[in-house]
Amino acid sequence: MTAAVIPAAGRGVRLGPGTPKALRALNGVPMLVHAVRAMARSRDVSLVVVVAPPDGAQEARTLLDDHARPDSTELVVVPGGGTRQESVRLGLAALPPEVTVVLVHDAARPLVPVETVETVAAAVRGGAPAVVPALPLADTVKQVEPRAGGGPEPVVATPDRAALRAVQTPQGFDRATLEKAHRTVALEGEGVTDDAGMVERLGLPVVVVPGHEEAFKVTRPLDLVLAEAVLDRRRATDGFA
Ligand code: CTP
Ligand code: MG
Repeated sequence: MTAAVIPAAGRGVRLGPGTPKALRALNGVPMLVHAVRAMARSRDVSLVVVVAPPDGAQEARTLLDDHARPDSTELVVVPGGGTRQESVRLGLAALPPEVTVVLVHDAARPLVPVETVETVAAAVRGGAPAVVPALPLADTVKQVEPRAGGGPEPVVATPDRAALRAVQTPQGFDRATLEKAHRTVALEGEGVTDDAGMVERLGLPVVVVPGHEEAFKVTRPLDLVLAEAVLDRRRATDGFA
């Protein structure tokens, strides 16, 4: 059985002050509802665990119950923690024993297409312990010596862009592998910003499959404009959003 864990407990500091990011609306529907629908749309996913803001689990549950989703998908809401890693750990703890494949998906990527979800799930079921969707980079990337305060930062190196990928979610895992990673790698593990990174620390293989430009993360105010434009385009082209 495949389950999705959706960490949605962040504040969304970079988006600016207001409601926690996952509860903000895109074209009138909360981002979290879009994200749950995106996972539930896949027939592979039979359970969705939403990890809500620590003091907002009841509010998230009510919001989700107010919006339609496929009947075939069970929904569980649990309160999250102070870091993304901690929130994912709390979501994993809510999974029933029959779950063998876990997709971890940011609520902040509400528009991921179902094809991406299914590509990731299929690769895990095909035997990969950890799978991440990713895209080539548009920008050249410089490694720098970081300086606080916006002053000039010395460039250290320019990595070959052709070998770099920008990773998205859902990231898919064999359940036992992901649980081991969360048990073994320190919760505040420095520099580990995604779940696959923790699996890499275990020395286990992680593979990349093609991501999708609509799986972008809503991070800054301009991303809200882009997300609503994508929803408008979907409504115009196939009548669903
Ligand atoms: N997240 C979480 N628990 C936390 C922090 C983050 O569940 N303590 C979730 C967010 O809700 C989001 C995902 O992790 O769906 C990716 O994080 P990010 O985009 O960084 O969201 P925020 O942490 O909310 O945003 P910011 O970093 O700007 O505050
Ligand atoms: Mg964050």
